Amino acid sequence: MSCTNLMKTVRLADGSCMPSVGLGTWKAEVARVTGLICEAVETGYRHLDCACDYGNESAVGAGLERVFREGLCRREDLWITSKLWNTYHDPRHVRLACERSLQDLKLEILDLYLMHFPIALEFVPFELRYPPGWFYDPAAPEPKMKPAPVPIAETWGAMEELVSLGLVKRIGVCNFGTSLLRDLLSRARIRPSVLQVELHPFLTQQKLLRFCREEGIGVTGFSPLGALSYFALGMAGKEESVVEAGPVVQAASRHGRTPAQVLLRWGIQRGTAVIPKTSSRARLQENLNIFDFELTDEEMKGIDDLDRGRRFNDPGDFCERAFNTFFPIYE
Ligand SMILES: NC(=O)c1ccc[n+]([C@@H]2O[C@H](COP(=O)([O-])OP(=O)(O)OC[C@H]3O[C@@H](n4cnc5c(N)ncnc54)[C@H](OP(=O)(O)O)[C@@H]3O)[C@@H](O)[C@H]2O)c1
Repeated sequence: MSCTNLMKTVRLADGSCMPSVGLGTWKAEVARVTGLICEAVETGYRHLDCACDYGNESAVGAGLERVFREGLCRREDLWITSKLWNTYHDPRHVRLACERSLQDLKLEILDLYLMHFPIALEFVPFELRYPPGWFYDPAAPEPKMKPAPVPIAETWGAMEELVSLGLVKRIGVCNFGTSLLRDLLSRARIRPSVLQVELHPFLTQQKLLRFCREEGIGVTGFSPLGALSYFALGMAGKEESVVEAGPVVQAASRHGRTPAQVLLRWGIQRGTAVIPKTSSRARLQENLNIFDFELTDEEMKGIDDLDRGRRFNDPGDFCERAFNTFFPIYE
């Protein structure tokens, strides 16, 4: 993968280039995702964001198999990320979890393996339930999460082993703030290549981005379209629509683009990768067509100023509402 065209890739500390637009697969339906992967690759996507927890890695793997069989692209032209689920933080389970994702995705190696959350939950055996989700025992009268006392440094040590074993090329984390990153950096033999966090104009996280830039950690923004992913889950109100925010809509009309394209372009102009999810063929194309226009400094600033620290994906809220467990991580 070469780092030619400006902003098409994010250059990481090891000199590699992560494609700046990837396809998110959270909530991509199993029945749709095999075909979707092929369509995405045909459209030009070269970065796929996957996770055990999304419950669709086998179907993604079937799509990848078809992609390679039909010669749509070669394995080495794709950047494939997966994530270690919370129930596998104990070092005894990290390799097994990674191998299961590899098996489902039908791959020999991942480009990037991320710790999904700084949250360790009690192990749930694969044969009992996969993916295990958040509840320890979903059949209990009042099911809850069951935290496990596993230090992040121990989980990280086992993730470092995955690199040594040749199962993953790089490792990183999601949903960490600066304090957790500093602690991780103080112990890491292999530094995190990438931090993946929620990023959109209502949650710009400028200081976190600056810290990552200064430490040479690449950043990927999830939920780049803001509230859109959270309406159906009851986790965002209609008035919180980032695609309808004035500066976004105005920039869209000035450039003859859609608000979604402006949000994604804002993301890559900040030097981050973005991983919008869509199941629509037309939107696959729309979300990738962001390399032939540029937001002005003034437009970037107008969108930056929308920041209101609104985190839609916050375990401190959703774990209590959906999983009967108060589990704040950012406070
Ligand atoms: N590490 C983590 O903890 C974490 C957390 C959340 C997400 N993620 C990753 O980040 C990816 C992206 O985040 P996300 O899925 O939460 O949200 P998102 O990509 O910002 O938004 C997805 C939603 O927007 C719609 N959409 C997509 N493109 C659109 C367009 N051009 N115009 C209008 N609507 C559009 C999609 O519907 P249609 O499908 O109908 O188009 C879907 O409802 C996830 O899929 C996942 O891979 C990671």
